[in-house]
Amino acid sequence: MKATAQAGANIAIVKYWGNLDASLNLPLNSSISLTLDQANTIVTVEFSPNVGEDRVEIEGRPAAGYARERVIGHLNHLRQMGGTDAPARVASRSTFPPATGLAFSASFYAALTVAGLAALGLAVDPRTVSTVARLGSGSAARSVYGGWVEWVAGASHEESYAQVLAPRDWWAIRDVIAIVSDEPKAVPSTVGHAAAVSSPCHQGRLARTTEHLAMARTAIRNRDLALLGQVAEEQALLLHAVAMTGTPRALYWLPGTVAVMQQVLAWREEGWPAYFTLDAGPNVHVLTTVEDAPRVAASLCAIPGMQRTLVCAPGGPPVLGDVHLF
Ligand code: DP6
Repeated sequence: MKATAQAGANIAIVKYWGNLDASLNLPLNSSISLTLDQANTIVTVEFSPNVGEDRVEIEGRPAAGYARERVIGHLNHLRQMGGTDAPARVASRSTFPPATGLAFSASFYAALTVAGLAALGLAVDPRTVSTVARLGSGSAARSVYGGWVEWVAGASHEESYAQVLAPRDWWAIRDVIAIVSDEPKAVPSTVGHAAAVSSPCHQGRLARTTEHLAMARTAIRNRDLALLGQVAEEQALLLHAVAMTGTPRALYWLPGTVAVMQQVLAWREEGWPAYFTLDAGPNVHVLTTVEDAPRVAASLCAIPGMQRTLVCAPGGPPVLGDVHLF
């Protein structure tokens, strides 16, 4: 009744922002992402009557309030599937700071789902793993796979799941993550998804997604960094335009965020193949080639407001491990 799994975070190229049904995390649009190798979360979960009551530890600290309730909500889905009401102990460790727009919830809920199903002895098909992970966090539906992944929006629980577009070794690209802040963001993604419809930019963003999805699929198929980068940048700016103009407002950018984006645009003028994108937070992902990643990472560190970089290659699917966190 105990298992450990590791899952990678992902960076969305075409982004999910806004729900058709928030209780099921059914999105308003399909999305495409790349699973990352160096940004990941390990989760150990044990279901046992000896645990007493549900215990959740994130980075060695007991989770409280909404963060805890959310994990317990997901444990309840897993318990229902496993036909048990045993309490659970959960612990996690990540290679990056949670709640900073680096897809902690994607890697955490993908790992919790894979470990939880294993702990309960449930062997289910990948599509079901993706739909169940989605109930924990929308973007976790994509992190149950490695490589390039599309989450098909769907209109019901069973129809909303992710699938692989191309495996991790299809394209040796790099995502140099520029960490400008470790501080938890003021507006969680869940609040942002609910606020999206109140933004005057929301319909404009949605109107671009069909074309952006097609462009992203073409870019991945042809290993075309310029096209992928164009989509990733436009998608980031559209998402942040919606976030900044919704109610409640979410202005995720810090001075370091803008400095990195400006620098990436300046590098492109000089011919560097580098493109920025951001999920819901201040930290910036810089998509570039394997050859250019070292100079991009070194030069990013010289920008005022920068803390450090995390250089990621495409990551694989979640793995079950035999070394437990407790
Ligand atoms: C901006 O999946 O984190 O990263 O389901 O509330 O956990 P919850 O939302 P979440 O939202 C991710 C939004 C995004 C874009 C994306 O990953 O597609």
